[in-house]
Amino acid sequence: MSRTIPLRSLHLRRSVLSVPAINLRALEKSHSLDCDAVIFDLEDSVSPEKKGQARENLRGFFAGPPLEGKERIIRINSLSSEFGAADLDLVKALLPDAVLLPKVDEPGDVTDISDLLADAEAPEALRIWAMIETPRGVLNVGAIAGAGRTPGARLDCLVVGLNDLRKETGVLPQPGRSYLVPWLMQVVLAVRAYGLDAIDSVFNDFKDAEGFDAECGQGRAMGFAGKMLIHPSQIEPANRHFGPSAEEIAEAEAVISAFADPDARGLNVINANGRMIERLHLVQAEALVHKARLISARKPA
Ligand code: COA
Ligand code: MG
Repeated sequence: MSRTIPLRSLHLRRSVLSVPAINLRALEKSHSLDCDAVIFDLEDSVSPEKKGQARENLRGFFAGPPLEGKERIIRINSLSSEFGAADLDLVKALLPDAVLLPKVDEPGDVTDISDLLADAEAPEALRIWAMIETPRGVLNVGAIAGAGRTPGARLDCLVVGLNDLRKETGVLPQPGRSYLVPWLMQVVLAVRAYGLDAIDSVFNDFKDAEGFDAECGQGRAMGFAGKMLIHPSQIEPANRHFGPSAEEIAEAEAVISAFADPDARGLNVINANGRMIERLHLVQAEALVHKARLISARKPA
C-alpha cells in the first residue's frame, strides 16, 4: 500500500534561530550551532542606517563555506518600506532556502512576492515563509495559508511574531499566554488546513530557562513544528521539546507493527492491548518515526 507522509513533516524545524545580519560574530557562530534552521534577519534587529552593511555581511557570509544541514532563511523588510526592494534583490542573488516576509496582512502580500520571484525566474526551491504578527494577519490567516495552495505560490511556513502582535493589540505578556492562545491556535489550524508548518514565536527573556521550557512544552502541545529563537542557549531545549520523545517513538513503532500484522489486513480499527487504534493513527505514527529518523540522521554541528 502506498503511504503518504504529510508535507509538513518533511523538514525539521524544531529550532529556528534568528541571527541579526549586522552581527558578524553571530553569523560566524551559526555554523557551529545545532539548530534546524537559521533566519538571517535584515528587518527588526537591524537599524535603518545599518541595512546596507547588513546586506553586505550576508553577501560575504553566503560566499563563504555553506551552512551544513540547516535551512537558510532571509527575513527581508516589507516591500512597502524603502529597504524592501534591495533586500529582495539580495535574496534573488543569494538564493537561500526561503525568504521570510514580515507583517503579512493578507494573501496578496504572499502572491505579490511569488509573482516577483516568478518574473525573476527564481528557482522553485526558493520558498516563502510569512510572519503572522499583525491583527489583520491573524484575522486573515486562513486565507493567507490558502494562498499557499495556488500554483507557484511557494508558501511553506508561517511564523508567529508575538512582540509585534502584543504591541499592536495591547495584550500584556503573561505566563501561559492565555489571551493569545486563541490567535496562536488560529495559525495552527490554518497551516494544518493547507499542509504548511507553523513556528511559535520568540521568547525574549533568554536567561529564564524555566519559563522557556514551559513555553516550548505549550507550543508543542498546541501543534507548532518548532520555535523561533533569539539565543543559542534556547536551541537544546527547543530541539528536545519539539522532537519526538523516546516514549512517543516506541508508541509509534508499536502502532506501525500492529497494523503490519497479517491479522490487521483490511481492518481500519484494531484492538492494541485494550486500546483502540485506527488507521489515521498509523499515518501519524509513520510521520513521527520519519521525523525521528531525520533527527538521528542529522550530523551534530
Ligand atoms: N545567533 C548566533 N549567535 C548568537 C546569537 C544569535 N542570535 N545571540 C547570541 N549569540 C552568541 C554571541 O555572539 C556570543 O558568542 P561568543 O560568546 O562566542 O562571543 C554568545 O552567543 C553568547 O551571547 P550573549 O553574550 O549571552 O548575548 P549577547 O549580548 O551577545 O546577545 C542578544 C544578546 C539578545 C542581543 C542576541 O542574542 C541577539 O541579537 N539575538 C537575536 C535578536 C533578533 O534576531 N531579533 C529579531 C527577531 S525577534
Ligand atoms: Mg516583527
